[in-house]
This record gives sequence, structure tokens and C-alpha cells, in this order.
Amino acid sequence: MSYPILLTLHLFAALIFIGTVFFEVIFLEGVRKHVPREVMRTMETAIATRARSLMPWVLLVLYSAGIGMAWYHRGALAHPLDSSFGLLLTIKIVLALSVFGHFLTAMTLGKKGKLRSVHFKYIHISVFCHMVGIVLLAKAMFYLHW
Ligand code: HEM
Repeated sequence: MSYPILLTLHLFAALIFIGTVFFEVIFLEGVRKHVPREVMRTMETAIATRARSLMPWVLLVLYSAGIGMAWYHRGALAHPLDSSFGLLLTIKIVLALSVFGHFLTAMTLGKKGKLRSVHFKYIHISVFCHMVGIVLLAKAMFYLHW
């Protein structure tokens, strides 16, 4: 598949994923203190159920397109310390893999019925911080040079 198509797919999947995480952290965490605990719990369960059906497809597109593009940059990735681009892209990929680990943890806890509000909250905040890093790195790797 051509690079521009992979990039477009990656960008659309990224905006759905990043948008969802930002919504959950900025809006959902923001209303937590104004909503009764039981209502919040019901909302979180409903959101987790929706996420379980939609997010695997979004992540499939996001990571497949990312791997497809990484193949084009395999020269730089093979020697990450030789260029600023290779290093920043490597860190971005490591952060993306860590996000995937968070996702698997949330899915596993959700399936076992053990996803408590406290897990929900900390997983979202951690993924949110990863997202900020990934977006900054995705742009910095093209504009920062040393
Ligand atoms: C949580 C997962 C990920 C998110 C949220 C994410 C997000 C992004 C974003 C926002 C961009 C900038 C796109 C643009 O400005 O046009 C980007 C670019 C890129 N991503 Fe990802 N990404 C993720 C995972 C991955 C993975 C796993 C890989 C590779 C294995 C990857 C490889 C790339 C590459 C090579 C680019 C540069 C594309 C270009 O502008 O030429 N990404 N990513």
C-alpha cells in the first residue's frame, strides 16, 4: 500500500483514538465529582463495552498503518542512534507499544469484570500522557534535527 494511503489511515485512526482518550480524561474525569458514584460506574461500564467493540478495529488500522509506514523508514529504525529522526521515531514506537500494553490490561480487567473506577482513571491518565508524547514526537521527528 502506498505511503500517503497508510498515512491517511493512520491519521484517521489516530484522531479517533486520541479524541476518545482526550474526551474520557478531560470531560469524563471532569464530571466525576458532579455525578453520583453509581451513575458514573454505569457510564464507565457502558463506555467500556462500546470501546471493546469499536477500539480493536481502530487499533488494528492504527498499528497496521504505523507498521506499514515504519517499513519505509526501516533504514533509520535499524540505527536509531545515527539520526534524530530515527531516535525520535523509535521513542514514538516504544510509547505506542506501551499504549497497547495499557489497552490489553484494560481489556483483560474489563472481561474479568475487575475494571474498577480507580483503574479506569489511572489507565486513562497514563494513556493521555503517552498520547501527548506520541503527538509531539510524531511532529518533532520531522522538525527537530541535531
Ligand atoms: C497509539 C498509537 C499511535 C498513535 C496515537 C500514533 C499517532 C500518530 C500521529 C498523530 C502521527 C502524525 C501524522 C501526521 O501528522 O500526518 C503519526 C505519524 C507516524 N506514526 Fe504513529 N501513532 C501510533 C502508533 C504508531 C506505530 C505503532 C508506528 C510504527 C510501528 C507508527 C509510525 C508512525 C510513522 C512512521 C509516522 C510518520 C508519518 C509521516 O508523517 O510520514 N505509529 N502517528
